[in-house]
Amino acid sequence: MSLETYKTATTSVPVHPLLAGRWSPRGFDAAHAVGDGQLRALLEAARWAPSANNSQPWRFLVARRGEEAFARLLDVLNPGNRTWAETAGALVLVAAETADETGRARPWALYDTGQAVAALAVQAQAEGLSVHQMGGFDAAAAREGFGLGDGLTPVVVVAVGRLDTAAELPEPLAARERAPRTRHPLDTLLLPAAPGPEQRAA
Ligand SMILES: Cc1cc2nc3c(=O)[nH]c(=O)nc-3n(C[C@H](O)[C@H](O)[C@H](O)COP(=O)(O)O)c2cc1C
Repeated sequence: MSLETYKTATTSVPVHPLLAGRWSPRGFDAAHAVGDGQLRALLEAARWAPSANNSQPWRFLVARRGEEAFARLLDVLNPGNRTWAETAGALVLVAAETADETGRARPWALYDTGQAVAALAVQAQAEGLSVHQMGGFDAAAAREGFGLGDGLTPVVVVAVGRLDTAAELPEPLAARERAPRTRHPLDTLLLPAAPGPEQRAA
């Protein structure tokens, strides 16, 4: 069985193949360049995500492998992420505008930005590309290194590229690449409709 087939989610009911087939690889094809049109489609998908009051707080710093900014983005990653992310076709620093131009807090900015990245990841899947999000990076160094203003909060760095199922990864990353994907059972995610104060008092 191919790694891609093996990694496809075993769902309790069928879900869209773009969702079931998405996973976060570490083996990226170091010889593959992400097309301009593809990269634009990923960002376009993110652009059309819903957001509180249509505030669109997501911002993207895009760097392709080989560019100077790519090397600088690699530098802010945790060492464990740097080992595999260097072969990605592009790295995207995602930031959220957590305060508006008057300094007022945007409480949904992080939530909205996560939705934008989710849309980006699904579009990548549709383009035959893979995405691996990373929270493991030095946000202060990213802020400083890329001159992000006070209203911007660095959220994740996203690796984008073509999966290389034959990539040689060091352990324990190689084992993780082959490990089955798991999730909590759906039932355990459902909150009970507990009685409210009026029902409890009755
Ligand atoms: C916000 C966020 C931060 C993450 N940070 C890292 C990271 O620093 N390094 C890493 O290898 N994976 C990271 N991941 C990937 C998750 O570990 C992965 O999505 C999760 O294990 C589920 O696997 P799947 O995406 O293949 O379904 C991150 C994912 C998200 C959404």
